[in-house]
Amino acid sequence: MDLILRENAFLGETHIVTGAAQGIGFAVVEALARHGAQVAMVDLDAGRLEEAKAKIEDAAVSPIIVPANVSKEEDVVRAVSQVLEVSDCINGVVNVAGITRDARITKKSYDDFNLVMSVHLGGTFLFTREIASQHWHPLFKANGNEPLDDGVNRFIVNFSSVSARNGNVGQVDYTAAKGAIESVTRTTAREFSGYRVRVNAIAPGPVNTPMLAGVPEQGIEAMKRSTLLGKVAEPSELAATVVGMVCPMISGYTTGQVFAANGGMYMA
Ligand SMILES: NC(=O)c1ccc[n+]([C@@H]2O[C@H](COP(=O)([O-])OP(=O)(O)OC[C@H]3O[C@@H](n4cnc5c(N)ncnc54)[C@H](O)[C@@H]3O)[C@@H](O)[C@H]2O)c1
Repeated sequence: MDLILRENAFLGETHIVTGAAQGIGFAVVEALARHGAQVAMVDLDAGRLEEAKAKIEDAAVSPIIVPANVSKEEDVVRAVSQVLEVSDCINGVVNVAGITRDARITKKSYDDFNLVMSVHLGGTFLFTREIASQHWHPLFKANGNEPLDDGVNRFIVNFSSVSARNGNVGQVDYTAAKGAIESVTRTTAREFSGYRVRVNAIAPGPVNTPMLAGVPEQGIEAMKRSTLLGKVAEPSELAATVVGMVCPMISGYTTGQVFAANGGMYMA
């Protein structure tokens, strides 16, 4: 992956990335590590995380592996404390982990509905709460409940989808979770303003990852035609957008926003 900012732009920073073993999450890990961050890679399976980590070249600081299920409270509590044992500062989290269980509403089981909600929305909430409870809020208290104007880069980048606004047949759970993640982004930006955390979301259009593997060729072609740029994005393009949202020189005055990276598929 090419350098987007100057070399080692994030040296000395610790970033958590969920859904890190493949797809967009892995591309985000690569991009942040390439810019010098120590990245904590969170995903379900330690073996897949080790394999993914082995593919990362040019990292100034080797990523750490943190196997966890983002929808399980005890896992997320442990994951955040594990990162804090290695690093005394967590600069931010990119909440990427996600699943789909597509079926029309009449065929959708309540178990699948709840599972999709708990991974996307629950996982985003839990990492947000735990980093704040274990790290940012204690810093704020130690600062006499005054804003943390210490110049430290603090951020949350959440993952929504174009389908949060546009809807998508078979994805009532997924689109609901993504819409809720956009709301969580705005509320978190307000609640965490004193911690000086910039909280934003990215709403991608179709991206070439294993998540699209089940979509037939005709469906992929239709997706391409529905964009103005005539293509499905590569994970590295989304990772570059994340780098811009993490970098205070690029998005230092941006918080509570949803950035549409959808090739012009939908314009709000
Ligand atoms: N690919 C697309 O077209 C597209 C479009 C819009 C939004 N998105 C969003 O981007 C994000 C990444 O999507 P992707 O295409 O890279 O998906 P992907 O399926 O390729 O990868 C998702 C990763 O999340 C992990 N994961 C799933 N459940 C988990 C859990 N409970 N705990 C921890 N990790 C878990 C998986 O193991 C996998 O490694 C998702 O939030 C997705 O909704 C994707």
